[in-house]
Amino acid sequence: MKQTVATLQKKKLNGEKIVMITAYDYTMARLCNEAGVDMILVGDSLGMVMLGYEDTLSVTMEDMIHHSRAVARGSASALVVTDMPFMSYQTGREEALRNAGRLLAEGRAQAVKLEGGAELGGLVKELVRCGIPVVGHLGLTPQSVNTLGGYRVQAREETSALRLLEDARALEAAGAFALVLECVPAPLAALVTQSVSCITIGIGAGPHCDGQVLVGQDLLGMYSNLCPRFVHHFAEAGAVIREGVAAYCASVRNGSFPDAEHSFAMDEEVLARVRTSLEPGD
Ligand code: KIV
Repeated sequence: MKQTVATLQKKKLNGEKIVMITAYDYTMARLCNEAGVDMILVGDSLGMVMLGYEDTLSVTMEDMIHHSRAVARGSASALVVTDMPFMSYQTGREEALRNAGRLLAEGRAQAVKLEGGAELGGLVKELVRCGIPVVGHLGLTPQSVNTLGGYRVQAREETSALRLLEDARALEAAGAFALVLECVPAPLAALVTQSVSCITIGIGAGPHCDGQVLVGQDLLGMYSNLCPRFVHHFAEAGAVIREGVAAYCASVRNGSFPDAEHSFAMDEEVLARVRTSLEPGD
């Protein structure tokens, strides 16, 4: 069944957990769909995981559209949410609307995600008015890494915790259908989850959110540059890939691959005629 904003909202009402994962390409999106995820996030974390940048700040609209299209082609059932990259929505309402529209029209996303709180309320309202479902992102917002001074837990103090609650309510009032809560204390994430009708999706936000999201390459043990405490390896695909590629290297180098089973035969008579044609004439 194709997940929609409505089916996901129903899951929150029924107390069913929602599973989101990041993916950035067609093959991975297909595997995630076959595994039964509800939502795929084409996160701007692709800058780090797929493109090797040290943060998400260099990711462009073109990068997001390119990866989003690929994921959408592989996502038969999961709802595809695509991140609005750094500076694609901070520079003015009109540009933000145009860029969000491009993520749906060209990137085939079904919703967009943007980082920030109450200050984005007006923009979120406009996006929703245009028929663009919106996911907010509160807590650790990686596009503000230079302001936050690093990737660390947010909203531990009373003032910042209250601000996060206000931001969540403001995004809810503006029409966001879901909120990613990244790196916030578990009890605060639980409070937000009880206080808003939006779906809350936690990452480093404890077990009481309506759903969870992890970066695919993190949970599969394929990306080791950063290893936040909230990541759990559900598989060691990195090791499996490394072993597989090493076995391929060894087989090519020792001549055991390709063997007859992986090669194509040719009619002997045809081959003989081709050989003859190569012989020097009289
Ligand atoms: O870009 C991303 O992958 C994200 C998740 C960490 C939530 O925003």
